[in-house]
Amino acid sequence: MTEQLAISGDDKEQKYASLLPQIKALIGQERDWIANLSNVAAALQQSFSFLWVGFYRVVEQELVLGPFQGPIACSRIKKGMGVCGTAWQIGETIIVPNVDKFPGHIACSSFSKSEIVVPVRDTSSKIVFVLDIDSEQLNHFDFVDQKHLEQLALLITASLDQ
Ligand code: SME
Repeated sequence: MTEQLAISGDDKEQKYASLLPQIKALIGQERDWIANLSNVAAALQQSFSFLWVGFYRVVEQELVLGPFQGPIACSRIKKGMGVCGTAWQIGETIIVPNVDKFPGHIACSSFSKSEIVVPVRDTSSKIVFVLDIDSEQLNHFDFVDQKHLEQLALLITASLDQ
């Protein structure tokens, strides 16, 4: 098992390219979702120093807070509410360049300025988690983050089926 991350590269494209194979190795041999999502949240936080990075888990008609790194956050989000509940409802990644301009954004931290939420599916394509990342900078997230985080979501899907 990889116990230390070695992140190389000057830009985020290179950092993600270096990080994802290490995450694959880290979670590929472990089937417990709490262990894996905890390590994914820690690996992203360690690599990019995001304000908040973590998972919400689908439990009946709500999202319930799962493994995360960062300040305390709201425990439950209803379907269709906030960025997380909307990404779950529409089944697509949402990039929010300025959280103040997203109607219904749920502010867990006043320091959060932009956000990306990526749905994570199980092997039958049902959304089982959302990955939520918050930044203290406006316009932090773009297609590079979306592309790599959606690849990461597929690695998590594969780890659920061991
Ligand atoms: N901002 C999110 C809520 C979760 S926190 O950011 C950790 C939302 O609007 O769904």
